[in-house]
Amino acid sequence: TQLNVVRVKNENEAAQYVYEYVKNKLQNETLQTIGLATGSTMIPIYKQWVESSLDFSGVTAFNLDEYVGLAKDNPNSYAYFMNEHLFQHKRFKQTFIPDGLAEDPEQECERYEQLLLKHPLDLQLLGVGQNGHIAFNEPETPIDSITHVAKLTDSTLSVNGQYFDNAEKMPDIAFTMGIESILRAKSIVLVAFGEKKRAAIEKLLEGEVDVHWTITYLLTHSDVTVITDLQE
Ligand code: GLP
Repeated sequence: TQLNVVRVKNENEAAQYVYEYVKNKLQNETLQTIGLATGSTMIPIYKQWVESSLDFSGVTAFNLDEYVGLAKDNPNSYAYFMNEHLFQHKRFKQTFIPDGLAEDPEQECERYEQLLLKHPLDLQLLGVGQNGHIAFNEPETPIDSITHVAKLTDSTLSVNGQYFDNAEKMPDIAFTMGIESILRAKSIVLVAFGEKKRAAIEKLLEGEVDVHWTITYLLTHSDVTVITDLQE
């Protein structure tokens, strides 16, 4: 296990680090496929890409997850988030995200996993949930999980529920890449800001795989960079 831990002062410094990391890979032509994440953590990162001259036109992108039942044009969908913050500003070769409105969810998971197998990820960008989830791999998700429909925990429902107004019920299930799908990526960069993420980051840095904190599965990967503003 080799975790590369990068302690930054603030979100801008983190975005700068990710920018240099990605720029390097683009220059070496070792970035054909990238796994992307959603969430507030990713906003400064995508903003910096958008304002830069980085060229993603040769890169195929895969998103980690999507709420079951939300259409692409629903402002709470992850498809909408990605368009808003990145895809409408930067051209990619192709972009994939699970289809929230897929008629047959099981079949949609299979389709997505097959796409991932066809386009192995050079880099996976990750945030982390307060309960240590990566993508929507909630506590106790097995390490060999592939793309599946996840039942969201109460913790996730309350943390992510703040983005939904009362008029709209938040889905309590979501499509998510599995742990195995994520760990297949050649390299992984995880970004975590603020005290709310401290428990998850500390679990990871403790260095022991714990099924209750799915972030710790990253310990079984050989190329993980953790960027955080949390100090020791
Ligand atoms: C959601 C996503 C995760 C993301 C997490 C953190 O639960 N499924 O992929 O890491 O939110 O979000 P934030 O960056 O807003 O803290």
